[in-house]
Amino acid sequence: AAHKLLLLPGDGIGPEVMGEVRRLLAFIEQKGLLSFEIEEDLVGGAAYDVHKVAISDGAMAKAHAADAILFGAVGGPQWDGVPYDARPEAGLLRLRKELMLFANLRPAICYPALAASSSLKPELVEGLDIMIVRELTGGVYFGEPKTITDLGNGQKRAIDTQVYDTYEIDRIARVAFDLARVRRNRVTSAEKRNVMKSGLLWNEVVTATHKDGFEDVTLDHMLADALGMQLVRAPKQFDVIVTDNLFGDLLSDVASMLTGSLGMLPSASLGAEDPVTGKRAAMYEPVHGSAPDIAGKGVANPLAMLASVAMALKYSLGRPDLADTLDKAISEVLADGLRTGDIYTDGATRVGTAEMGQAVVAKFETL
Ligand code: NAI
Ligand code: MG
Repeated sequence: AAHKLLLLPGDGIGPEVMGEVRRLLAFIEQKGLLSFEIEEDLVGGAAYDVHKVAISDGAMAKAHAADAILFGAVGGPQWDGVPYDARPEAGLLRLRKELMLFANLRPAICYPALAASSSLKPELVEGLDIMIVRELTGGVYFGEPKTITDLGNGQKRAIDTQVYDTYEIDRIARVAFDLARVRRNRVTSAEKRNVMKSGLLWNEVVTATHKDGFEDVTLDHMLADALGMQLVRAPKQFDVIVTDNLFGDLLSDVASMLTGSLGMLPSASLGAEDPVTGKRAAMYEPVHGSAPDIAGKGVANPLAMLASVAMALKYSLGRPDLADTLDKAISEVLADGLRTGDIYTDGATRVGTAEMGQAVVAKFETL
């Protein structure tokens, strides 16, 4: 059966990089590798201009029906003044919330050809391939009470509350173990059990989930601060890292800088598996934003978006083989010296969005 995809290009360079997704999907179909039923809709500022909301109910219905959502980017200075609930990011937040996308997967991949642009020594990061699995819908960003109180003596008190229930930790741990099995079979769980009750429970639940059918995967526990240090000292020791919302936010940003290519990183956000159909909501998007400074010029780097399609092939469309081929095509195009402006270095061949997309498809065909 055809896979249902929803394309949400969004704003700025979103539609430009999504154009390269269309090119790749058309090629995959034409080769008879997969068949797709492709829907498309507006999100972000583009949706606001038409519907006065950042995502319409119609687009949400398509999102619920899709096997995978491919999201470009949203935002831009022209929507700075719109009502708070209709701001471009609200579209992204509604998707995350309604589809209950609790698992945020952020790979940190260092393509050999780009190792020299890392913040670390090339030999420490060359070939780096870490997957950070961040809990996205719980923890201190959402826990109640969440208040600022005036204490009346010139002092105020701010309270944020870290809350985690067993089921939230269990389901994110399962995502991490499942991922490790199609990677290098190793999970490192990070918390602060030495100072936080939520860290103690996190450690206890991850350990219990591991015993519940995942003992073929190697599990280590590390304190989150120590893990931050190890990430910079010797990042290649890690395969899958699973952690809470706050630590995951910090650690994934640190990891992205190791790769030297912030604008090249994909991400995925996964929901729970439907117990009846086995279907799992999933949205794939580049880590970068809408880049208003270069939008409309045809120079945006489409590789983060295309690497997000590779994640969709692997985790939603049942074709890890095609995902590997696509990742390899991206890596080889870089090795051939092709560079968009954001990753350009002396002596490389400067290309635009469409040329880069075409080169990836052409390489894909040879692999
Ligand atoms: P940004 O990621 O859009 O841009 C940061 C810098 O990186 C810019 O100089 C940009 O030109 C460059 N860049 C980013 N992606 C690139 C690509 N694919 N190819 C070449 N260069 C690229 O972040 P910024 O400037 O902080 O935010 C711009 C807008 O994007 C804002 O409205 C922000 O709210 C929104 N944004 C949206 C996100 C999303 O849709 N998930 C995530 C981050 C920001
Ligand atoms: Mg962040």
